[in-house]
Amino acid sequence: MYASKGFFLDKEMLEFLSELKEENVREIMNILSGLNIKKKIITKKLFDKYSDKFSGFLIDKNKRSEIKLLSPINFSSGKITVMDFVRHFRGRYEFLKGILEKRKFDNLSSIRKIGNNNGFWTTIVMISGKRITKNKNLLIEVEDLTGKSIILINRENIKLFSEAKKLLLDDVVAFRVSGSNKMLFANEIIFPDAEIKKEKYGVADNYIAFSGDFHIGSKMFLEKNLLKFISWLNGNIGDGRQRAIAKKVKYLFLTGDNIDGVSHYPGQEKFLDIKTCKEQYLKLEKILKEIRGDIKIIMCPGQHDSVWVGEPQPVISKKWASGLYDMKNLFMVPNPSLIKVEGGFKILMYHGASINGFINEIPEFRMKFGHKHPTIIVKEMLMRRHLAPTHGVIDYIPHNSKDSLIIDIVPDIIATADQHRAEINNYNNILIVASSCWQSITPFEKKVGNIPDPCKVPLFNLKTREIKIIDFSDEQKEICWEVGDNLACKINKNDKENE
Ligand SMILES: [Fe+2]
Repeated sequence: MYASKGFFLDKEMLEFLSELKEENVREIMNILSGLNIKKKIITKKLFDKYSDKFSGFLIDKNKRSEIKLLSPINFSSGKITVMDFVRHFRGRYEFLKGILEKRKFDNLSSIRKIGNNNGFWTTIVMISGKRITKNKNLLIEVEDLTGKSIILINRENIKLFSEAKKLLLDDVVAFRVSGSNKMLFANEIIFPDAEIKKEKYGVADNYIAFSGDFHIGSKMFLEKNLLKFISWLNGNIGDGRQRAIAKKVKYLFLTGDNIDGVSHYPGQEKFLDIKTCKEQYLKLEKILKEIRGDIKIIMCPGQHDSVWVGEPQPVISKKWASGLYDMKNLFMVPNPSLIKVEGGFKILMYHGASINGFINEIPEFRMKFGHKHPTIIVKEMLMRRHLAPTHGVIDYIPHNSKDSLIIDIVPDIIATADQHRAEINNYNNILIVASSCWQSITPFEKKVGNIPDPCKVPLFNLKTREIKIIDFSDEQKEICWEVGDNLACKINKNDKENE
Protein backbone atom coordinates (compact mmCIF):
# COMPACT_ATOMS: atom_id res chain seq x y z
CA MET A 1 0.00 0.00 0.00
CA TYR A 2 2.79 2.44 0.97
CA ALA A 3 5.01 1.70 -2.03
CA SER A 4 2.09 2.19 -4.41
CA LYS A 5 1.80 5.74 -3.10
CA GLY A 6 5.52 6.21 -3.70
CA PHE A 7 6.56 6.13 -0.03
CA PHE A 8 8.87 4.13 2.15
CA LEU A 9 8.43 4.09 5.89
CA ASP A 10 11.00 3.94 8.63
CA LYS A 11 10.61 1.31 11.37
CA GLU A 12 9.04 3.63 13.93
CA MET A 13 6.43 4.84 11.43
CA LEU A 14 5.64 1.29 10.36
CA GLU A 15 5.09 0.25 13.98
CA PHE A 16 2.88 3.28 14.56
CA LEU A 17 0.68 2.51 11.55
CA SER A 18 0.46 -1.19 12.36
CA GLU A 19 -1.57 -0.32 15.45
CA LEU A 20 -4.20 1.62 13.51
CA LYS A 21 -7.27 0.42 11.66
CA GLU A 22 -6.73 -0.30 7.98
CA GLU A 23 -9.15 2.42 6.83
CA ASN A 24 -7.31 5.01 8.89
CA VAL A 25 -3.98 3.91 7.41
CA ARG A 26 -5.46 4.33 3.94
CA GLU A 27 -6.68 7.81 4.82
CA ILE A 28 -3.22 8.73 6.13
CA MET A 29 -1.61 7.50 2.93
CA ASN A 30 -4.06 9.47 0.81
CA ILE A 31 -3.45 12.64 2.78
CA LEU A 32 0.33 12.15 2.73
CA SER A 33 0.32 11.69 -1.03
CA GLY A 34 -1.61 14.96 -1.40
CA LEU A 35 0.89 16.94 0.66
CA ASN A 36 3.63 17.00 -2.01
CA ILE A 37 6.29 15.88 0.45
CA LYS A 38 9.58 15.75 -1.39
CA LYS A 39 11.13 13.11 0.90
CA LYS A 40 10.51 9.50 -0.12
CA ILE A 41 11.10 8.00 3.30
CA ILE A 42 8.40 8.97 5.79
CA THR A 43 9.79 9.01 9.29
CA LYS A 44 7.68 9.34 12.43
CA LYS A 45 9.33 12.72 13.03
CA LEU A 46 8.27 13.92 9.59
CA PHE A 47 4.75 12.56 10.15
CA ASP A 48 4.48 14.41 13.48
CA LYS A 49 5.30 17.65 11.67
CA TYR A 50 2.02 17.26 9.79
CA SER A 51 0.08 15.78 12.70
CA ASP A 52 -2.70 18.40 12.54
CA LYS A 53 -3.63 17.08 9.06
CA PHE A 54 -4.50 13.71 10.57
CA SER A 55 -5.95 14.67 13.88
CA GLY A 56 -9.50 14.56 12.50
CA PHE A 57 -9.49 10.82 12.79
CA LEU A 58 -6.64 10.07 15.14
CA ILE A 59 -6.68 10.44 18.87
CA ASP A 60 -3.40 9.86 20.60
CA LYS A 61 -3.11 6.10 20.96
CA ASN A 62 -2.37 6.42 24.65
CA LYS A 63 -5.71 8.11 25.15
CA ARG A 64 -7.86 6.25 22.67
CA SER A 65 -9.32 3.74 25.08
CA GLU A 66 -10.85 6.38 27.36
CA ILE A 67 -12.48 8.84 24.98
CA LYS A 68 -13.71 7.87 21.55
CA LEU A 69 -14.08 10.19 18.59
CA LEU A 70 -17.01 8.77 16.63
CA SER A 71 -16.95 11.29 13.82
CA PRO A 72 -13.61 11.05 12.05
CA ILE A 73 -13.18 13.77 9.45
CA ASN A 74 -10.87 13.54 6.51
CA PHE A 75 -9.69 17.12 6.00
CA SER A 76 -8.93 16.84 2.32
CA SER A 77 -6.31 19.20 1.07
CA GLY A 78 -6.19 20.62 -2.42
CA LYS A 79 -8.19 22.99 -4.52
CA ILE A 80 -11.95 23.16 -4.00
CA THR A 81 -13.96 23.32 -7.21
CA VAL A 82 -17.63 23.96 -8.03
CA MET A 83 -18.10 20.21 -8.42
CA ASP A 84 -17.11 19.74 -4.76
CA PHE A 85 -20.06 21.94 -3.76
CA VAL A 86 -22.37 20.05 -6.14
CA ARG A 87 -21.35 16.68 -4.66
CA HIS A 88 -21.59 18.12 -1.14
CA PHE A 89 -25.22 19.22 -1.60
CA ARG A 90 -26.23 16.07 -3.51
CA GLY A 91 -24.69 13.95 -0.75
CA ARG A 92 -26.55 15.91 1.90
CA TYR A 93 -29.85 15.64 0.03
CA GLU A 94 -29.46 11.88 -0.42
CA PHE A 95 -28.58 11.37 3.23
CA LEU A 96 -31.48 13.40 4.65
CA LYS A 97 -33.86 11.88 2.09
CA GLY A 98 -32.76 8.48 3.39
CA ILE A 99 -33.76 9.49 6.93
CA LEU A 100 -37.15 10.82 5.78
CA GLU A 101 -37.91 7.76 3.62
CA LYS A 102 -37.83 5.56 6.70
CA ARG A 103 -41.24 7.04 7.60
CA LYS A 104 -42.87 5.04 4.80
CA PHE A 105 -44.88 7.87 3.25
CA ASP A 106 -47.91 7.25 1.03
CA ASN A 107 -47.55 8.26 -2.61
CA LEU A 108 -43.93 9.22 -2.22
CA SER A 109 -42.92 10.74 -5.50
CA SER A 110 -40.10 12.64 -7.13
CA ILE A 111 -40.93 15.99 -8.72
CA ARG A 112 -40.52 14.51 -12.22
CA LYS A 113 -42.93 11.67 -11.50
CA ILE A 114 -45.63 14.03 -10.20
CA GLY A 115 -45.56 15.69 -13.62
CA ASN A 116 -48.92 17.02 -14.78
CA ASN A 117 -50.93 14.49 -12.80
CA ASN A 118 -53.26 15.99 -10.26
CA GLY A 119 -53.30 14.10 -6.98
CA PHE A 120 -52.00 13.78 -3.42
CA TRP A 121 -48.28 13.23 -3.01
CA THR A 122 -45.41 13.26 -0.59
CA THR A 123 -42.24 14.67 -2.03
CA ILE A 124 -38.80 15.10 -0.46
CA VAL A 125 -37.13 18.30 -1.56
CA MET A 126 -34.49 20.87 -0.87
CA ILE A 127 -35.66 24.47 -0.43
CA SER A 128 -34.21 26.75 -3.11
CA GLY A 129 -36.31 29.89 -2.67
CA LYS A 130 -38.97 31.51 -0.53
CA ARG A 131 -41.18 34.53 -1.06
CA ILE A 132 -44.48 36.09 0.00
CA THR A 133 -47.03 36.51 -2.82
CA LYS A 134 -49.28 39.52 -3.49
CA ASN A 135 -52.04 37.73 -1.53
CA LYS A 136 -49.66 37.22 1.43
CA ASN A 137 -49.36 33.48 0.90
CA LEU A 138 -45.95 31.82 1.02
CA LEU A 139 -44.41 30.45 -2.15
CA ILE A 140 -41.62 27.95 -1.66
CA GLU A 141 -39.34 27.02 -4.55
CA VAL A 142 -38.16 23.45 -4.22
CA GLU A 143 -36.03 20.96 -6.08
CA ASP A 144 -34.94 17.35 -5.96
CA LEU A 145 -32.54 15.45 -8.20
CA THR A 146 -35.23 15.15 -10.90
CA GLY A 147 -36.55 18.68 -11.24
CA LYS A 148 -37.97 21.85 -9.72
CA SER A 149 -41.40 22.91 -8.56
CA ILE A 150 -43.21 25.48 -6.45
CA ILE A 151 -45.27 24.82 -3.34
CA LEU A 152 -47.86 27.26 -2.07
CA ILE A 153 -48.61 27.61 1.64
CA ASN A 154 -51.91 29.30 2.27
CA ARG A 155 -51.83 31.98 4.97
CA GLU A 156 -55.26 30.82 6.18
CA ASN A 157 -53.63 27.59 7.38
CA ILE A 158 -52.13 29.36 10.36
CA LYS A 159 -50.16 26.49 11.90
CA LEU A 160 -48.63 25.37 8.62
CA PHE A 161 -47.92 28.93 7.55
CA SER A 162 -46.06 29.62 10.79
CA GLU A 163 -44.01 26.40 10.39
CA ALA A 164 -43.22 27.23 6.77
CA LYS A 165 -41.95 30.69 7.69
CA LYS A 166 -39.20 28.94 9.64
CA LEU A 167 -38.00 27.00 6.60
CA LEU A 168 -34.48 27.94 5.61
CA LEU A 169 -32.83 27.85 2.22
CA ASP A 170 -31.19 24.46 1.60
CA ASP A 171 -33.34 22.69 4.20
CA VAL A 172 -34.29 19.16 3.19
CA VAL A 173 -37.87 18.31 4.17
CA ALA A 174 -40.83 16.23 3.06
CA PHE A 175 -44.02 17.98 1.96
CA ARG A 176 -47.44 16.36 1.82
CA VAL A 177 -48.98 18.16 -1.12
CA SER A 178 -51.87 18.15 -3.52
CA GLY A 179 -52.00 19.44 -7.08
CA SER A 180 -49.68 18.93 -10.00
CA ASN A 181 -46.17 19.95 -10.80
CA LYS A 182 -47.28 23.35 -12.10
CA MET A 183 -48.38 24.30 -8.60
CA LEU A 184 -48.41 22.16 -5.49
CA PHE A 185 -50.39 23.05 -2.35
CA ALA A 186 -48.83 22.10 0.98
CA ASN A 187 -50.79 20.20 3.63
CA GLU A 188 -47.93 19.22 5.93
CA ILE A 189 -44.18 19.77 6.38
CA ILE A 190 -42.10 16.94 7.84
CA PHE A 191 -38.53 17.49 9.04
CA PRO A 192 -35.96 14.65 9.21
CA ASP A 193 -36.00 15.10 13.01
CA ALA A 194 -34.00 13.47 15.80
CA GLU A 195 -35.03 11.47 18.80
CA ILE A 196 -33.54 9.30 21.51
CA LYS A 197 -36.11 6.67 22.41
CA LYS A 198 -34.94 6.19 25.97
CA GLU A 199 -32.73 8.49 27.99
CA LYS A 200 -29.41 6.92 28.91
CA TYR A 201 -28.30 6.46 32.53
CA GLY A 202 -24.66 5.66 33.39
CA VAL A 203 -23.39 3.45 36.17
CA ALA A 204 -20.76 5.62 37.82
CA ASP A 205 -21.78 8.70 39.82
CA ASN A 206 -19.71 11.11 37.71
CA TYR A 207 -20.33 14.58 36.34
CA ILE A 208 -19.53 16.31 33.08
CA ALA A 209 -18.84 20.05 33.24
CA PHE A 210 -19.59 22.09 30.12
CA SER A 211 -17.70 25.27 29.40
CA GLY A 212 -15.78 27.12 26.69
CA ASP A 213 -15.42 30.64 25.30
CA PHE A 214 -12.49 31.47 27.57
CA HIS A 215 -11.31 34.14 25.09
CA ILE A 216 -7.89 34.19 26.68
CA GLY A 217 -5.91 37.24 25.55
CA SER A 218 -8.93 39.55 25.55
CA LYS A 219 -8.97 42.53 27.90
CA MET A 220 -12.45 41.35 28.87
CA PHE A 221 -11.18 37.85 29.85
CA LEU A 222 -12.52 37.10 33.35
CA GLU A 223 -9.42 35.36 34.60
CA LYS A 224 -10.17 35.59 38.32
CA ASN A 225 -13.57 33.99 37.83
CA LEU A 226 -12.13 31.19 35.70
CA LEU A 227 -9.49 30.50 38.33
CA LYS A 228 -12.26 30.41 40.93
CA PHE A 229 -14.00 27.72 38.86
CA ILE A 230 -10.75 25.76 38.67
CA SER A 231 -10.20 26.18 42.37
CA TRP A 232 -13.68 24.71 42.92
CA LEU A 233 -12.93 21.83 40.50
CA ASN A 234 -9.80 21.09 42.52
CA GLY A 235 -11.85 20.92 45.71
CA ASN A 236 -10.41 24.05 47.28
CA ILE A 237 -13.54 26.19 47.61
CA GLY A 238 -17.28 25.77 48.10
CA ASP A 239 -19.45 24.34 50.84
CA GLY A 240 -19.57 20.62 51.58
CA ARG A 241 -22.22 19.87 48.98
CA GLN A 242 -20.44 21.86 46.30
CA ARG A 243 -17.11 20.21 47.02
CA ALA A 244 -18.74 16.78 46.87
CA ILE A 245 -19.93 17.57 43.34
CA ALA A 246 -16.53 18.94 42.32
CA LYS A 247 -14.89 15.67 43.32
CA LYS A 248 -17.20 13.79 40.96
CA VAL A 249 -16.45 15.90 37.88
CA LYS A 250 -14.68 13.54 35.53
CA TYR A 251 -15.00 15.31 32.19
CA LEU A 252 -14.70 18.95 31.14
CA PHE A 253 -15.97 19.80 27.67
CA LEU A 254 -14.58 23.04 26.24
CA THR A 255 -16.57 23.94 23.16
CA GLY A 256 -14.32 26.44 21.38
CA ASP A 257 -13.10 30.06 21.43
CA ASN A 258 -10.39 28.97 23.83
CA ILE A 259 -8.42 32.10 23.00
CA ASP A 260 -9.54 35.48 21.67
CA GLY A 261 -7.11 35.20 18.73
CA VAL A 262 -5.91 38.14 16.70
CA SER A 263 -7.31 40.07 13.72
CA HIS A 264 -10.83 38.65 13.94
CA TYR A 265 -12.29 42.07 13.42
CA PRO A 266 -10.85 45.50 12.59
CA GLY A 267 -9.25 47.11 15.61
CA GLN A 268 -9.30 43.94 17.77
CA GLU A 269 -5.76 44.69 18.99
CA LYS A 270 -7.18 47.57 21.08
CA PHE A 271 -9.08 44.96 23.10
CA LEU A 272 -6.19 42.51 23.54
CA ASP A 273 -4.02 42.07 26.60
CA ILE A 274 -2.00 39.35 24.89
CA LYS A 275 -1.21 40.23 21.31
CA THR A 276 -0.14 36.90 19.76
CA CYS A 277 -1.97 33.58 19.42
CA LYS A 278 1.06 31.61 20.61
CA GLU A 279 1.20 33.58 23.83
CA GLN A 280 -2.55 33.28 24.28
CA TYR A 281 -2.23 29.48 23.96
CA LEU A 282 0.68 29.52 26.43
CA LYS A 283 -1.63 31.18 28.93
CA LEU A 284 -4.36 28.63 28.15
CA GLU A 285 -1.87 25.83 28.74
CA LYS A 286 -0.86 27.33 32.08
CA ILE A 287 -4.50 27.58 33.17
CA LEU A 288 -5.50 24.10 31.98
CA LYS A 289 -2.52 22.62 33.76
CA GLU A 290 -3.96 23.97 37.01
CA ILE A 291 -6.91 21.56 36.66
CA ARG A 292 -6.51 18.31 38.56
CA GLY A 293 -5.09 15.67 36.24
CA ASP A 294 -7.83 13.06 36.60
CA ILE A 295 -10.36 15.33 34.84
CA LYS A 296 -10.40 14.58 31.13
CA ILE A 297 -10.62 17.78 29.12
CA ILE A 298 -12.14 17.51 25.66
CA MET A 299 -11.53 20.65 23.64
CA CYS A 300 -12.59 21.71 20.15
CA PRO A 301 -11.80 24.97 18.37
CA GLY A 302 -14.18 27.85 17.68
CA GLN A 303 -14.08 30.83 15.36
CA HIS A 304 -11.54 32.65 17.54
CA ASP A 305 -9.05 29.78 17.64
CA SER A 306 -6.04 29.51 15.37
CA VAL A 307 -7.54 27.21 12.77
CA TRP A 308 -9.37 28.02 9.56
CA VAL A 309 -12.83 29.53 10.06
CA GLY A 310 -14.59 27.19 7.61
CA GLU A 311 -16.35 24.24 9.20
CA PRO A 312 -15.47 21.52 9.94
CA GLN A 313 -12.51 22.98 11.77
CA PRO A 314 -9.45 20.82 12.43
CA VAL A 315 -7.83 20.57 15.84
CA ILE A 316 -5.59 23.38 16.99
CA SER A 317 -2.19 22.57 15.57
CA LYS A 318 1.15 22.09 17.31
CA LYS A 319 2.44 25.13 15.46
CA TRP A 320 0.33 27.36 17.71
CA ALA A 321 0.00 25.37 20.87
CA SER A 322 2.73 22.76 21.14
CA GLY A 323 2.50 22.72 24.95
CA LEU A 324 -1.10 21.50 24.86
CA TYR A 325 0.07 18.35 23.07
CA ASP A 326 2.03 17.32 26.16
CA MET A 327 -1.03 17.27 28.40
CA LYS A 328 -2.06 13.69 29.08
CA ASN A 329 -5.60 14.61 30.15
CA LEU A 330 -6.33 16.92 27.20
CA PHE A 331 -8.11 15.54 24.09
CA MET A 332 -8.11 17.97 21.22
CA VAL A 333 -10.80 17.26 18.65
CA PRO A 334 -12.22 19.00 15.56
CA ASN A 335 -15.31 21.20 15.51
CA PRO A 336 -17.85 19.59 15.30
CA SER A 337 -17.05 16.24 16.95
CA LEU A 338 -19.09 13.36 18.26
CA ILE A 339 -17.45 12.01 21.38
CA LYS A 340 -18.26 8.85 23.32
CA VAL A 341 -17.52 8.72 27.03
CA GLU A 342 -18.20 6.18 29.79
CA GLY A 343 -21.64 4.63 29.89
CA GLY A 344 -21.87 4.96 26.11
CA PHE A 345 -22.98 8.62 26.28
CA LYS A 346 -22.58 10.21 22.87
CA ILE A 347 -21.90 13.93 23.05
CA LEU A 348 -21.96 16.09 19.96
CA MET A 349 -19.87 19.19 20.52
CA TYR A 350 -20.31 22.08 18.12
CA HIS A 351 -19.05 25.57 18.79
CA GLY A 352 -22.11 27.09 17.17
CA ALA A 353 -21.08 29.63 14.52
CA SER A 354 -24.38 29.03 12.73
CA ILE A 355 -26.54 30.07 15.71
CA ASN A 356 -26.40 33.75 14.70
CA GLY A 357 -27.41 32.75 11.17
CA PHE A 358 -30.50 30.89 12.44
CA ILE A 359 -31.46 33.93 14.54
CA ASN A 360 -31.06 36.27 11.57
CA GLU A 361 -32.88 34.01 9.11
CA ILE A 362 -35.90 33.12 11.24
CA PRO A 363 -37.80 36.38 11.92
CA GLU A 364 -39.93 34.83 14.66
CA PHE A 365 -36.85 33.88 16.68
CA ARG A 366 -35.09 37.14 15.96
CA MET A 367 -37.99 39.20 17.25
CA LYS A 368 -39.15 36.94 20.06
CA PHE A 369 -35.91 35.72 21.61
CA GLY A 370 -32.96 37.51 19.99
CA HIS A 371 -29.81 35.88 21.38
CA LYS A 372 -31.34 34.97 24.72
CA HIS A 373 -32.13 31.31 24.11
CA PRO A 374 -29.41 29.49 22.19
CA THR A 375 -30.91 26.07 22.98
CA ILE A 376 -34.07 26.91 21.03
CA ILE A 377 -31.87 27.27 17.96
CA VAL A 378 -30.19 23.94 18.71
CA LYS A 379 -33.63 22.30 18.61
CA GLU A 380 -33.95 23.62 15.07
CA MET A 381 -30.62 22.01 14.19
CA LEU A 382 -31.79 18.67 15.59
CA MET A 383 -35.08 18.84 13.67
CA ARG A 384 -33.14 19.45 10.47
CA ARG A 385 -30.40 16.92 11.34
CA HIS A 386 -27.97 19.61 10.26
CA LEU A 387 -25.83 22.09 12.19
CA ALA A 388 -25.80 24.83 9.54
CA PRO A 389 -28.06 24.12 6.57
CA THR A 390 -28.02 27.39 4.64
CA HIS A 391 -25.22 28.08 2.19
CA GLY A 392 -23.54 31.39 2.95
CA VAL A 393 -24.59 31.63 6.59
CA ILE A 394 -21.28 30.22 7.80
CA ASP A 395 -18.01 29.41 6.08
CA TYR A 396 -17.75 25.71 5.41
CA ILE A 397 -15.58 23.30 3.51
CA PRO A 398 -17.52 21.15 1.03
CA HIS A 399 -16.66 17.49 1.05
CA ASN A 400 -17.04 14.88 -1.63
CA SER A 401 -17.91 11.97 0.55
CA LYS A 402 -19.66 13.38 3.59
CA ASP A 403 -21.10 16.66 4.77
CA SER A 404 -19.64 16.68 8.27
CA LEU A 405 -22.23 19.17 9.55
CA ILE A 406 -24.98 16.58 9.12
CA ILE A 407 -26.16 15.15 12.43
CA ASP A 408 -25.69 11.58 11.34
CA ILE A 409 -25.77 9.73 14.67
CA VAL A 410 -28.33 11.18 17.10
CA PRO A 411 -26.41 12.20 20.24
CA ASP A 412 -27.50 11.82 23.86
CA ILE A 413 -26.21 15.32 24.50
CA ILE A 414 -25.47 18.22 22.18
CA ALA A 415 -23.12 20.83 23.60
CA THR A 416 -22.78 24.26 22.01
CA ALA A 417 -21.25 27.61 22.94
CA ASP A 418 -20.75 30.82 20.96
CA GLN A 419 -23.66 32.80 22.41
CA HIS A 420 -21.94 33.14 25.81
CA ARG A 421 -25.11 32.18 27.69
CA ALA A 422 -25.59 29.02 29.75
CA GLU A 423 -28.88 27.26 29.13
CA ILE A 424 -30.26 23.74 29.34
CA ASN A 425 -33.04 22.26 27.27
CA ASN A 426 -34.41 18.94 26.13
CA TYR A 427 -35.62 17.83 22.73
CA ASN A 428 -37.02 14.32 22.26
CA ASN A 429 -34.82 13.05 25.12
CA ILE A 430 -31.72 14.73 23.69
CA LEU A 431 -30.14 16.99 26.30
CA ILE A 432 -29.11 20.38 24.93
CA VAL A 433 -26.42 22.26 26.81
CA ALA A 434 -25.33 25.77 25.87
CA SER A 435 -22.27 26.90 27.76
CA SER A 436 -21.50 30.34 29.15
CA CYS A 437 -18.19 32.22 28.79
CA TRP A 438 -15.36 33.84 30.71
CA GLN A 439 -15.41 37.19 28.95
CA SER A 440 -17.42 40.27 29.85
CA ILE A 441 -19.47 42.03 27.17
CA THR A 442 -17.58 42.86 23.97
CA PRO A 443 -18.22 45.79 21.59
CA PHE A 444 -19.54 43.29 19.00
CA GLU A 445 -22.03 41.81 21.48
CA LYS A 446 -23.20 45.31 22.39
CA LYS A 447 -23.73 46.07 18.71
CA VAL A 448 -25.82 42.94 18.01
CA GLY A 449 -27.68 43.12 21.31
CA ASN A 450 -26.30 39.87 22.70
CA ILE A 451 -25.92 40.32 26.44
CA PRO A 452 -23.59 37.56 27.70
CA ASP A 453 -24.16 35.69 30.92
CA PRO A 454 -20.61 34.79 31.93
CA CYS A 455 -19.10 32.44 34.51
CA LYS A 456 -21.91 29.86 34.71
CA VAL A 457 -21.01 26.19 34.44
CA PRO A 458 -23.63 23.54 33.58
CA LEU A 459 -22.96 20.16 35.19
CA PHE A 460 -24.54 16.86 34.23
CA ASN A 461 -24.55 13.72 36.37
CA LEU A 462 -24.11 10.61 34.21
CA LYS A 463 -25.80 8.30 36.69
CA THR A 464 -28.80 10.32 37.82
CA ARG A 465 -29.06 12.83 34.93
CA GLU A 466 -29.19 15.54 37.59
CA ILE A 467 -28.29 18.96 36.16
CA LYS A 468 -26.87 21.92 38.01
CA ILE A 469 -25.50 25.25 36.95
CA ILE A 470 -22.91 26.74 39.24
CA ASP A 471 -22.37 30.47 39.19
CA PHE A 472 -18.81 31.80 39.44
CA SER A 473 -19.62 35.39 38.52
CA ASP A 474 -18.81 38.21 40.87
CA GLU A 475 -22.40 39.37 40.86
CA GLN A 476 -23.51 36.01 42.26
CA LYS A 477 -26.71 36.10 40.28
CA GLU A 478 -28.74 32.96 40.53
CA ILE A 479 -29.94 30.94 37.56
CA CYS A 480 -33.21 29.18 38.15
CA TRP A 481 -34.94 27.73 35.15
CA GLU A 482 -37.41 25.82 37.29
CA VAL A 483 -38.94 27.67 40.18
CA GLY A 484 -38.27 26.20 43.57
CA ASP A 485 -35.79 23.59 42.52
CA ASN A 486 -32.27 23.29 43.66
CA LEU A 487 -30.54 23.45 40.32
CA ALA A 488 -28.49 26.57 40.73
CA CYS A 489 -26.01 27.13 43.47
CA LYS A 490 -23.50 29.85 44.05
CA ILE A 491 -19.88 29.68 45.04
CA ASN A 492 -19.27 32.57 47.39
CA LYS A 493 -15.91 34.25 47.38
CA ASN A 494 -15.57 33.74 51.09
CA ASP A 495 -16.67 30.13 51.25
CA LYS A 496 -13.19 28.95 51.88
CA GLU A 497 -12.67 31.39 54.68
CA ASN A 498 -16.11 30.66 56.14
CA GLU A 499 -15.50 26.95 56.63
FE1 LIG B 1 -16.99 33.25 21.98
